[in-house]
Amino acid sequence: MIQIANLGKSYDDLKRHLVLQGLNLTVNDGEFLGIMGASGSGKSTFLRIVGGLETYSAGKVSVFGQDLQTMKESEREQYRKNVISFVFQDYNLLSGLTVKENIILPYTMMEKDEKKIEQDYTVIAKLLGIDEFENRYPEEVSGGEQQRAAIARAVIKKSKILLADEPTGSLDVGTGRKVLEMFRKINADYKVTVIMVTHDVLSASFCNRVVFLRDGQFVKMLNKIGSQENFYRSIQEEMGKMDEIF
Ligand SMILES: Nc1ncnc2c1ncn2[C@@H]1O[C@H](COP(=O)(O)OP(=O)(O)OP(=O)(O)O)[C@@H](O)[C@H]1O
Ligand SMILES: [Mg+2]
Repeated sequence: MIQIANLGKSYDDLKRHLVLQGLNLTVNDGEFLGIMGASGSGKSTFLRIVGGLETYSAGKVSVFGQDLQTMKESEREQYRKNVISFVFQDYNLLSGLTVKENIILPYTMMEKDEKKIEQDYTVIAKLLGIDEFENRYPEEVSGGEQQRAAIARAVIKKSKILLADEPTGSLDVGTGRKVLEMFRKINADYKVTVIMVTHDVLSASFCNRVVFLRDGQFVKMLNKIGSQENFYRSIQEEMGKMDEIF
């Protein structure tokens, strides 16, 4: 369970500008949560805090009962390695490794069975069509291909929490849908908690709950009730209202 109480974040020491303020949220294990909001509203900052990549200025974030701010650096490293998978907005692939090496590297550090690594890799590479460019380096593939590699790298780790920052932003509708269905599957089958930032209503409709960030505050929360189509319409309607504010 992720518990967030009165979370505040400022990037300047004097705390003149609060990027996040007074955020309260509980994310239960196995939830598929969407985060929407305009550019600059604090979505990536929020994900980075939950992922243990960023400190915060006020409030408390605890994950599985562990307070992130009071963790020692070594504990934080373990937390990032063992609990969290991250799909970064800018993909964060290592330039000296091929696409395939990038994907399996974090997994190789956790799983000793090479055959299993290869098997898991083959399944996910095929599903996302990565096998065609797996031996190329990140700079030799397109943005969407890098994004697929970043997704594969995060998913193959099978961590308890998957944080995905605009994971379908550079993908065509068909590939994006495959990714979302894969998220839904790992969420349902392995009870992985997924928190996904998205600008896209269709992507958000795959979630069970969507929160809207505006100027660093949660201004609205929608729960999925009924079908995905219904949820899609509710999110779209909410976005329409938000337009007047943004
Ligand atoms: N390292 C940093 N130092 C100073 N300010 C930052 C830093 N990172 C982000 N910000 C600022 O914090 C605010 C929130 O940024 P954040 O990246 O969280 O937004 P976002 O909602 O993810 O936006 P986008 O949709 O464009 O990715 C912005 O005003 C941004 O300029
Ligand atoms: Mg962002």
